[in-house]
Amino acid sequence: MPGFSSRVAIYPGTFDPITNGHIDIIQRAAPLFDKVIVTLALNSDKNPLFSIEERIEMIKRSTSDMSHVEVAQFSGLVVDFAARKGASVIIRGLRAVSDFEFEFQMALMNRKQRPEIDTVYLMPDARYTYLSSSIVKEVAQHGGRIERFVPQFVLDMLKKKF
Ligand code: COA
Repeated sequence: MPGFSSRVAIYPGTFDPITNGHIDIIQRAAPLFDKVIVTLALNSDKNPLFSIEERIEMIKRSTSDMSHVEVAQFSGLVVDFAARKGASVIIRGLRAVSDFEFEFQMALMNRKQRPEIDTVYLMPDARYTYLSSSIVKEVAQHGGRIERFVPQFVLDMLKKKF
């Protein structure tokens, strides 16, 4: 179609594991773009509980009913991966003011690397503003209740780990 350029966004993260907060962000992003690529960052400093395959599987199952959402993985810089995929936008969730400083730094550094790529922030539902993958793992490890915060199959995989 002349003049048509598709809007592709990537949503990077460690997703160890994916939570309802991440899923909420993906659901909000999907209608805004022609394609959203949920992207597992492999070279994060974190020491993940779940393997790459397990995390990819959990993301795929969480997004299987969403149209134009794809799942991928990358190592290297997030902006280089975005460029390779033809994405002009990086999506990040902003849960609280405490997220701001790190996100601000990352967005400006990413812009220095590739000025044509912008970061778009979305706020998750208020139910998930205090959620993180670490807190979910910690509560699960000690037998607490997390069924409101992750899909059933993530809950099952957490139970198997602990
Ligand atoms: N709901 C629930 N939790 C959320 C959330 C939401 N909506 N949004 C963020 N979080 C949580 C995550 O679960 C994660 O929790 P954890 O720390 O307990 O694991 C935490 O907030 C932040 O993680 P995430 O959003 O996954 O980002 P990250 O810090 O793990 O990874 C990358 C950030 C992937 C963007 C970054 O590591 C990256 O790009 N790496 C590649 C190298 C690069 O280009 N770096 C940037 C240079 S400027």
